[in-house]
Amino acid sequence: MASGNGSSTRKKVVLAYSGGLDTSVAINWLRTTKNLDVVTCTLDLGQDGTDLKATEAKAKKIGAVATYTVDAKDEFCNDYIRYAIWANALYGGKYPLATALGRPLIAKKLAEVAYKENADFISHGCTGKGNDQVRIEVSTGALHSGLKTIAPMREWIYTRDEAVAYAEKNGIPVPVKKGKAFSIDENLWGRSIEAGPIEDATIEPPEEAFLWTNSPQDAPNAPQTVVIDFEKGVPVALDGKRMKLLDLVLKLNEVAGEHGVGRIDQIEDRLVGIKSREVYESPAATVILYAHHELETLVLSKDVLQFKPTVEQKFAELTYNGLWFSPLMDNLKVFLEHTQTRVTGQVKLKLFKGTMTIAGRTSPFSLYNKSLATYGTEDSYDHTAAEGFIKIWGLPLKVWNKAGTQGEAKRESTPQTPRKKA
Ligand code: ARG
Repeated sequence: MASGNGSSTRKKVVLAYSGGLDTSVAINWLRTTKNLDVVTCTLDLGQDGTDLKATEAKAKKIGAVATYTVDAKDEFCNDYIRYAIWANALYGGKYPLATALGRPLIAKKLAEVAYKENADFISHGCTGKGNDQVRIEVSTGALHSGLKTIAPMREWIYTRDEAVAYAEKNGIPVPVKKGKAFSIDENLWGRSIEAGPIEDATIEPPEEAFLWTNSPQDAPNAPQTVVIDFEKGVPVALDGKRMKLLDLVLKLNEVAGEHGVGRIDQIEDRLVGIKSREVYESPAATVILYAHHELETLVLSKDVLQFKPTVEQKFAELTYNGLWFSPLMDNLKVFLEHTQTRVTGQVKLKLFKGTMTIAGRTSPFSLYNKSLATYGTEDSYDHTAAEGFIKIWGLPLKVWNKAGTQGEAKRESTPQTPRKKA
């Protein structure tokens, strides 16, 4: 996965490199201004249209002494998204946390490369206003406490136009035009769209913000049914075809995206104290989380279902706030995994013009017992037992009521001693 060899004695920095404007500029800046040998680290997390070979070549051309390119898609699915599914994880009740889940994995790879290359620094292209800087730095620190960070976007470059000007001056190839409308972060769990016209929270996001989802009004006029099979909380088959999680997510992004499912428009509380307007498209995540929770309602006990959201909420919060590699998260993961022992079964959903509707669920561990629930003839419920149950269930309330009535009566019959003499 590595190529190129830095043979100098200068100190090394491992840069999280996307191939985009900010990090391309950063290679040159770290090399010339900070006098460091730059090692780039690029991850494939399933973002659209990344030519990893070209990205690597570009890094070299700008001056990286070594480049690492990691296909981390399966690892992302198995060690990050899997837990997010088990946790039905949504931040602010809406956002499936695509970006937030990707950052700790990027940090993990940065730390690994730093160990291997004996580097003192890591670097990234995040700005000083967002959550991503926190996630990457807190996570690299949690895995390799000796690392220091250099964040060019905090230290030097503040606007996109400045970065473009610097790139043009230094002969850095920049495919993006000045004033590009949005800031995008993408991986297979979703697309995060920020900035530009989206900053106006009073209006709908412009249609060109969306690339993975049809507008509901342009979606097919006929609904499509999808069937997802789960084993221990993990989706394992789509429409009867077994596939690994990665392939299932990619396929479902297409199918649900076509039906306009998975658009999210959110006012979000960033960790750094800013309220921001964020737009996402996460077709597969939206469908999988909905289906997964639906199956859980069938197989988990009432008290587990009532308690689990506390853990889910904490999971989403820790993920969002950059605390993926924390002791509390490790404990939550164990709890979540244990809850999934019986989350095996099938969920059928209908996708139609931006909506999804449950069309059936089944499980070998189903707690739904038709003979107990039915009002029909095959009823097995003991109706006479209800009488005794109600007597005991309602007993404390009867005692409460009686004590109140008696107490009031006693007070009324007791002569009141005047407080002051007239
Ligand atoms: N607000 C989201 C989060 O904090 C998305 C961030 C997207 N990052 C970006 N560079 N566009 O997880």
